[in-house]
Amino acid sequence: MEMVEDYVSGSNMQRRDAQDVIDEFNCELSNMRGKCLDIGSGPGNITKELLLPILPHDAEVVGADISEAMVNYASQKYNDEKRLSFVILDIETSELPSNQVEQYDNAVSFYCLHWCNDIWRALQNIYKLLRPNGKALVMFLGYHSGFEAYLQLKQYPRYQSYLQDACRYVPYFQRRMCKDVRASLRKMLEDVGFEILHCSKREKSYHYSKQSLKNHVCAVNPFMKRLPDDMKSEFIDNLLNEIMNQNVLIPLKSKSKSSQEYLILRYYLLIAYVQKPASAI
Ligand SMILES: C[S@@+](CC[C@H](N)C(=O)[O-])C[C@H]1O[C@@H](n2cnc3c(N)ncnc32)[C@H](O)[C@@H]1O
Repeated sequence: MEMVEDYVSGSNMQRRDAQDVIDEFNCELSNMRGKCLDIGSGPGNITKELLLPILPHDAEVVGADISEAMVNYASQKYNDEKRLSFVILDIETSELPSNQVEQYDNAVSFYCLHWCNDIWRALQNIYKLLRPNGKALVMFLGYHSGFEAYLQLKQYPRYQSYLQDACRYVPYFQRRMCKDVRASLRKMLEDVGFEILHCSKREKSYHYSKQSLKNHVCAVNPFMKRLPDDMKSEFIDNLLNEIMNQNVLIPLKSKSKSSQEYLILRYYLLIAYVQKPASAI
């Protein structure tokens, strides 16, 4: 994700869901002392506005993201915040930088891990980044009906060469069509070595107007930067059409009493709160 401003303005759903998790785990977060890593911190607004205020006043947060554009934006925007810094880090890397290993007392990650092709490797890396006893709170998409549209667009001859790897961007548990996603995630976390303090699957939905859906898909789809400029606008229109074809449009009264069509998209989130054992080597 490189379109930083688009993400900031098109991520109301992600912000609402991060706020919900932060509220729910308020007690645990307010006890996260020391150094906390925020994995996939993006533009840093959630890190700064929602996470930092809830952590103990002397806790330090390092926001980490694979995108240089996101890290540059966040570093500049929040450079006056002494307790906050940002680094480039790929949580799926086969070799973590040695100066990062076991450097963190805690970790959080909101809306990032579904971007990982190899989620197992990402969880292993989170384990390695934590000190013994360190805790991690992660929230990510298990399924979202909107991703099916990527696979539909891949069938269009004119997009085929740009969307060859479209499947890779469908969340891990969605593309594997796991029957019991919560059990699969639990097993994965246990196999990595974590003790599980909480693991759940949450059904959610979000109301979009056509414009807010457009803002959202522009902000999060990974294909825009590959497409020639003259194809971008029609690609977004086709993506929206595919999403709308698979979902129900309902008329709702807006505050101004004029009737506007809304789309309700269903999805579910996976939430895990885990601990690296004290005895871990
Ligand atoms: C949807 S944004 C979430 C940003 C923020 N956490 C929030 O809740 O709004 C996902 C972020 O994860 C980052 N990301 C994707 N794959 C990653 C990886 N392998 N390692 C680190 N960050 C990654 C993207 O660059 C993007 O900034």
